[in-house]
Amino acid sequence: MFDESKFDVNLKLWALRIPRELCKSATRILNGYMLNMPRIKPITEDPACEKTRLVILSENVKNSDLSDIPDEKLNQLKKLSEVEVVPHSVTLGYSYWSAGHIAHLNLHDELLPFKDVIAKVIYDKNYPRIKTIVNKVGTISNEFRVPNFEVLAGENGMETEVKQYGARFKLDYSLVYWNSRLEHEHMRISSLFKPGETVCDMFAGIGPFAIPAAQKGCFVYANDLNPDSVRYLKINAKFNKVDELICVHNMDAREFISQLMVVSTCEGNLQPVADEKTKEAVASRGEDKDAGVRREEIRANASINEPLGADKKPSGLSKTENGVGKDCKTTEGNTNKKLKQTLLPIAKPWEHIDHVIMNLPASALEFLDAFSNVIQRKYWKGTLPLIHCYCFIRASETTESIIAEAETALKFHIEDPVFHKVRDVAPNKAMYCLSFRLPEACLRQED
Ligand SMILES: C[S@@+](CC[C@H](N)C(=O)[O-])C[C@H]1O[C@@H](n2cnc3c(N)ncnc32)[C@H](O)[C@@H]1O
Repeated sequence: MFDESKFDVNLKLWALRIPRELCKSATRILNGYMLNMPRIKPITEDPACEKTRLVILSENVKNSDLSDIPDEKLNQLKKLSEVEVVPHSVTLGYSYWSAGHIAHLNLHDELLPFKDVIAKVIYDKNYPRIKTIVNKVGTISNEFRVPNFEVLAGENGMETEVKQYGARFKLDYSLVYWNSRLEHEHMRISSLFKPGETVCDMFAGIGPFAIPAAQKGCFVYANDLNPDSVRYLKINAKFNKVDELICVHNMDAREFISQLMVVSTCEGNLQPVADEKTKEAVASRGEDKDAGVRREEIRANASINEPLGADKKPSGLSKTENGVGKDCKTTEGNTNKKLKQTLLPIAKPWEHIDHVIMNLPASALEFLDAFSNVIQRKYWKGTLPLIHCYCFIRASETTESIIAEAETALKFHIEDPVFHKVRDVAPNKAMYCLSFRLPEACLRQED
């Protein structure tokens, strides 16, 4: 008899009991120290009292005296509220790792002789929520980072739909990259964006950074080499009603950056996903001379570091009427009323980009050379972009060796790099996000 509970993993964690109105501030302070697991909310109802909530701490916080959290953060927390530490346990059952209706297994060799029976039982116990059981075969070797799967039970169809916080994504698991374990990271990065900012995603996949950014009122240039990812990215932009804010490209990431930075009077390459009707509407809006001023207003009104919650609509967009920049595309009759009033790329990409995302951890550092000598100083306005470049760090490597690698690709010194650990991917290998501001020296001085 198959025992479902054998798949359970019990995590013994600590949680902080906090008045519910202080959860947002506590979340900001505890950034990096809260539970970071897909589809498990780190803030939960408190069974003991409805006026308080439990903020679940990460597995790395081992002691109830919170000695694993830096003093500075603890002091900030104590100023905010009295801190009560309580034990909290989380159980992950065998249906935990799934994408939409697909349960994705990574069976170890010793379980392979039983794969069919394992799949059948999971299917029978979880149908109709789970309709397909797949097992990953071999290691990922293709450049699109798509694993090979063997269907063990259920339907063959690998097209599914998943939710991440406020966004929904359609995808075909056999054609595009998807990893539900990155949900928290997608939200962490999106929480750094402010309405009205311009974001460039060099390895966008089906849009898990691009769509939340657009939902927040950013304008996004998103690119991926995989034509299927690009197809789903466009579908998802429409599906989430942010197609007017995302301009999609299908090319190599180096080529993408170099094309974005070409100073041009032609708008062709900078159009968002939205259809011809939208473009006509845009053309009829004309230019907006006050865009720069409004951009500043938008920033001043933006909610900083505020993650999009499950039930949250795009924030900070309602203060500005007709925030249409030179490239702006708005449509009459769009159902998303808030986005209709949005603020668009007030600057062209060769004039200003706020954030660049590079999530291809196996080789993104090598792509940093894409920024050497392509941005022209005389056209650029304001601060240089913050680069969020993902990488793996193995036991034999250090953050210093990674910086050295990044500087070699960039050809210039990086000031104040910040590393954020995303997750362990193997016993001796972890995924990190290296964030830094593009050095001024990378800019091209002459024409
Ligand atoms: C690790 S996935 C990340 C996708 C998405 N950003 C996410 O977080 O789910 C990396 C993506 O980079 C794309 N890719 C690989 N090589 C590329 C290249 N040279 N230029 C542009 N995209 C590339 C792959 O197709 C894949 O979708």
